[in-house]
Amino acid sequence: MLTSVLARSWTKSQILKVSAFDDVTYAKTVFCFRGAVMRRTFSISVAGLMMIASAITLQGLTANAESQFEIAVIKRPSCGCCTRWVEHLQSNGFKTNVKESGQLRSIRARLGVPTDLAACHTAQIDGYVIEGHVPADAIKRLLAERPEATGLAVPGMPIGSPGMEGGTPETYDVILFSKNRQQSFGRYRTDKLISK
Ligand code: CU
Ligand code: CU
Repeated sequence: MLTSVLARSWTKSQILKVSAFDDVTYAKTVFCFRGAVMRRTFSISVAGLMMIASAITLQGLTANAESQFEIAVIKRPSCGCCTRWVEHLQSNGFKTNVKESGQLRSIRARLGVPTDLAACHTAQIDGYVIEGHVPADAIKRLLAERPEATGLAVPGMPIGSPGMEGGTPETYDVILFSKNRQQSFGRYRTDKLISK
């Protein structure tokens, strides 16, 4: 009788052990049975927690690529709009690492930024190059879509772009570039996408 009740939730080897028990050990058996149920409940909740944890990790990877990778920024020591651009990235969840250099022209050449797209600072994140006042929104989209390209650029420091606030905001293109190709990655005003 006890064996048939246990058979529903116990493994074969556990049932064999229980069958060998006499009446004296009955209380102990019941105690063990409760322990087994509790262990089972516990292992289910551990599995549940692990599922929740992995779901959170997955969401973190897809929705927060900007916080997984540090953006390495190189700027001239005197550049104020560069610092404001870095602050814009930070307030949008990016981890930043800023270095100062007077050799931006040669750094750009080494990283493959076309001279006609040059701006005031150059950055790198997760294999892409970011040149100029590129909005955080565009960088997040780049990291999510992962197009085959060298990176993004906003040439000419448009008024109203992130770090260039003050005055009447201009409409500007964020350029997706590679060695032999340049195309718009979206039209922006201030830090907002207005059309693709
Ligand atoms: Cu600038
Ligand atoms: Cu700059």
